[in-house]
Amino acid sequence: MLSRQRKMRRRARFRRGEFEDSCVLSRLFRRCCEVSATRGLVHAWIGTRASMVLRNCHNFHDFRRLAKRRLPGPIFDYIDGAADEETTHRRNTKAFESCDLVPSVLRGVGSVDLSVTVMGQKLALPVYCSPTALQRLFHHQGERAVAAAAAKYGTMFGVSSLGTVSLDELRKAHDTSQIYQFYFHKDRGLNRAMLQRAKDARIDIMMLTVDSITGGNRERDLRTGFSIPFRLTLAGMLQFAMKPRWGINYITHERFRLPQLEEHIDMRGSALSIGGYFTEMLDPSMNWDDVAEMVRHWNGQFCLKGVMSPADAKHAAEIGCTGIVVSNHGGRQLDGSRASFDQLAEIVDAVGDRIDVFMDGGVQRGTHVLKALSVGAKAVGVGRYYLYPLAAAGQAGVERALGLMKAELERDMKLMGCIAIGQLSRDNLRLR
Ligand SMILES: Cc1cc2nc3c(=O)[nH]c(=O)nc-3n(C[C@H](O)[C@H](O)[C@H](O)COP(=O)(O)O)c2cc1C
Repeated sequence: MLSRQRKMRRRARFRRGEFEDSCVLSRLFRRCCEVSATRGLVHAWIGTRASMVLRNCHNFHDFRRLAKRRLPGPIFDYIDGAADEETTHRRNTKAFESCDLVPSVLRGVGSVDLSVTVMGQKLALPVYCSPTALQRLFHHQGERAVAAAAAKYGTMFGVSSLGTVSLDELRKAHDTSQIYQFYFHKDRGLNRAMLQRAKDARIDIMMLTVDSITGGNRERDLRTGFSIPFRLTLAGMLQFAMKPRWGINYITHERFRLPQLEEHIDMRGSALSIGGYFTEMLDPSMNWDDVAEMVRHWNGQFCLKGVMSPADAKHAAEIGCTGIVVSNHGGRQLDGSRASFDQLAEIVDAVGDRIDVFMDGGVQRGTHVLKALSVGAKAVGVGRYYLYPLAAAGQAGVERALGLMKAELERDMKLMGCIAIGQLSRDNLRLR
């Protein structure tokens, strides 16, 4: 009886996010690390090791390999994986091979201006960091690293509703444009309160994700038991045991939290999991009237993320959205849905003269970005492109990835014979 109570208490603490205290070994380790000198040494050692290998990362694949080495399998698979057969995920990148760039020569390309103005924001790069969940699980710096790197390169970044650092903190730390990615709740009062909080925090763009009306079938996560709170399978647990360095980082930094939700929803007492949040709190009956009301209420830059049909794009423009993201959530929702790049031209043709069209999905190279901009996207979002570097080396990793992207874009623009993004057009593309 006593041991059952103890087990229940322990399970409740586990659900409240106090995962690190749930075993004697990790408790002992935490004690050890409370001695600040030990902690300093541990962090310095981790930092040096990280920069040693970061120098060898020259592209998306190098970062991905390094992230795989650093992360416990279940976490790597959460980032790397997608829905069902992962066909849409693979096609997202493959789609860029369906056309080729046609360069122009002898056009005097001494210096290149990569800046764009989108949804009222002036960005130094036509690439932004798309909102992604749970970033402090990938590296203890999480959103702080991504925001700082985005600010360094003068571009915008998104904070997910399932973000692990609060929007207000990031807003105070950086002036660069900030997106808040929103999920629509059954409780309309709650939606309004969350919008108000984002308004108070001076968020530049409200981005409502509309492709996640229900969760995608991510079978890699089912196999490892990845969920928040963790419900790992034995195989999943073994994979965590094999990456003690991740564990050291996790345990020696601040507790994992979901501040965007915690402010409004009691995620502790009720032990609401992220799966539970999606099924119990979000509203699958959300429709165009609801969104129109939200757009009016926000009364600022408003973007729908996950629009894939020209008809929906037109509808978004009609209800007052100022932007849309052509996106299939990185292939993580409806497998078999069309690749974002394949679908981009139709949507630009439908609404490109009325609202700003972004795209994301599968972008790994500067040339992918140039192809999307040539078709008519105003800016391009990246997800895994910055998540692997984050996992590999925190802020230094994301900065290196954005730096490489900037260098690639500058080089590729020169090779294309262009000095400003506005010079790219469908004339410099040919379908195979
Ligand atoms: C690990 C991970 C978490 C994500 N979390 C969110 C999220 O919380 N909200 C959202 O709208 N999109 C989320 N996305 C989708 C991204 O915003 C973006 O649409 C996608 O990653 C683009 O594809 P790419 O990873 O191939 O660049 C997530 C993607 C990944 C890989």
